[in-house]
Amino acid sequence: MSVALIILAAGKGTRMNSDLPKVLHPIGGAPMLHHAMRAGSVLAPEHTVVVAGYGVDAVTRAALAFDDEAKVVVQAEQLGTAHAAAQAREALSGFEGRAIVLFGDTPFVRAETLEALMETTADVTVLGFEATDPARYGRLVMEGEQLQRIVEFKDASEAERAITLCNSGVLAAPAPLLFDLIAEVQPDNAQGEYYLTDLPRLARARGLDVAVVRCAQDETLGINSRAELAGAEAQFQAAARAALLEDGVTLAAPDTVFLSLDTNIGRDTLIEPNVVFGPGVSVESGATIRAFSHLEGCHVSRGAVVGPYARLRPGAELAEDVRVGNFVEIKNATLAPGAKVNHLSYIGDASIGAASNIGAGTITCNYDGVMKNFTHVGERAFIGSNTMLVAPVTIGDEAITGSGSVITSDVEAGALALARAPQVEKPGMARKLMDMLRAKKARQSRGS
Ligand code: UD1
Ligand code: CA
Repeated sequence: MSVALIILAAGKGTRMNSDLPKVLHPIGGAPMLHHAMRAGSVLAPEHTVVVAGYGVDAVTRAALAFDDEAKVVVQAEQLGTAHAAAQAREALSGFEGRAIVLFGDTPFVRAETLEALMETTADVTVLGFEATDPARYGRLVMEGEQLQRIVEFKDASEAERAITLCNSGVLAAPAPLLFDLIAEVQPDNAQGEYYLTDLPRLARARGLDVAVVRCAQDETLGINSRAELAGAEAQFQAAARAALLEDGVTLAAPDTVFLSLDTNIGRDTLIEPNVVFGPGVSVESGATIRAFSHLEGCHVSRGAVVGPYARLRPGAELAEDVRVGNFVEIKNATLAPGAKVNHLSYIGDASIGAASNIGAGTITCNYDGVMKNFTHVGERAFIGSNTMLVAPVTIGDEAITGSGSVITSDVEAGALALARAPQVEKPGMARKLMDMLRAKKARQSRGS
């Protein structure tokens, strides 16, 4: 059956106490909204409609960054979840399949759970969970297998508040029925809002079937505050680490490794303690990422060794068996197989040829204050320690630069380039100088 997703993401998220729209707060380096969109994508939806409101421009950019075919509709005033879902009506006009409403602030719903939701034959299906601490979640009032109504925490009586079966917010119904029912919703509740949670009651009044599919509590975590965001981050990290271990990645100290939603690491790679993977990192099989390294937007190939204390920034592309050592920063640079940058260097906007060795303290001077310029180093070149490669500049294959050189023009293949003041030696001069200085100090302390 064809599916349309309606993802509600218009709220400000008052309890976040933030200028950033709630659904853009990151978990695992990706906006919460991406987690919800990713969860829904397993149903191969024909349409994905994101309802944006607060911070609409930023939310639109984020939605399209995940799925450039998503439709973003605007809920100018946030009058409640039913009013939000109603905004998708036009975008889905003529669509007869099943609509599933997801919340942008509920990131962890599992694929199997959404699939189970699709399999029910009820007219309206709500995803519920047994809460150990039901807190402010809406409560599901059941009669046998039928869901009679959902009562929001603020509107609930003492007896209703004692119910532990709660509303995740996820709801499914044939799209035409969903919009029909939504049209009947009235804002007659404690908050004066149009509640999506009124749908089960309205459906029951028509004699329709309303079912509940149950899922684990950790899937339905709704994020409303910074404390819940921190809890969600911890939950995400725990799950992502467990998944890597399962996939055959060695994590020496899993609790100290931080991952992103899109982190991709191959089998038999070793990750030492205290490594941070920002967004956009892929590491092939059999690589080693040593302790205290920070990686984002980069690719590390088989057999490469990174760190300890290395920083790989966006555009760092490390081929097989590359070595990047301590206190080295690589940005927008490709390192061909076997290249080594072992100590204290900055390599930015550059290509380093196969098996070249970049000496300690080498810097690509890529930025002239206005423009970024490129450095090419050929194959099997040897860049002496503390070389300044003033870009744009090209160093040929098998060339050598003397340590301490400031290289401002191209070096041809096989050449040795020395660009530093020649050494001058003055015999006996050191002792003479020290004697002079000591005599001067003695005169000063006599006060003469
Ligand atoms: C909602 C449910 C509650 C459920 C809980 C699960 C309602 C009325 N209540 O409560 O039963 O237990 O989620 O987490 O549905 N939004 C809009 N436009 C609006 C209002 C909200 O787009 O006008 C979006 C928000 O951005 C958010 C989602 O809908 O992503 C949920 O809204 P929120 O205000 O967080 O609802 P809860 O009070 O948590
Ligand atoms: Ca919420």
